[in-house]
Amino acid sequence: MAILKIARMGHPVLRGRAEAVDDPCAPEIRALVADMMETLEDICGAGLAAPQVHVPLRVVLFRIPADRITEEPGAKPVGWTALLNPVVELVGDEMELGWEGCLSVPGLRGVVPRHTHVRYGGITPEGKEISREASGFHARVVQHECDHLNGVLFPTRMTDLSLFSFTGELRHGLADEVNARRDTAGRIP
Ligand code: NI
Repeated sequence: MAILKIARMGHPVLRGRAEAVDDPCAPEIRALVADMMETLEDICGAGLAAPQVHVPLRVVLFRIPADRITEEPGAKPVGWTALLNPVVELVGDEMELGWEGCLSVPGLRGVVPRHTHVRYGGITPEGKEISREASGFHARVVQHECDHLNGVLFPTRMTDLSLFSFTGELRHGLADEVNARRDTAGRIP
């Protein structure tokens, strides 16, 4: 087990398309996922994709902690989920705005439009196939992490760069200003 070094925006490993995993049950893949988990736990992150730790393979790891979905009625926390060769299907046209950060874009947060509902699937490191539906923050995390596998970072998904901020500056009112526009479901219209 090891805490891995995170690649930052601009590094070529974050700009390319990651390769599919040939053997989901390979010991190297299990070791990679274990190290990614240790890395995420060390920095209390919600998700990580293998290219962020300099491994250009289609592997993502995430969890949805209960305290991140308190504003979403009916949303359930999701435990650690490692997916190899994940596929995301966007469901419907509904989009919502939400704040995102990324370990590869340290110290910055931005408001990003994402599809509200997705279906996603993939293979676990145990070789099991997973298929799920997700909404809200859960759907956002899946879209964010899978974007990494195609060389896409959240700032390139932003449609309003006036809502891009250093995390430490959000306390001056930008976060409140955006949050005040939320509807009852927690979406920002
Ligand atoms: Ni990220």
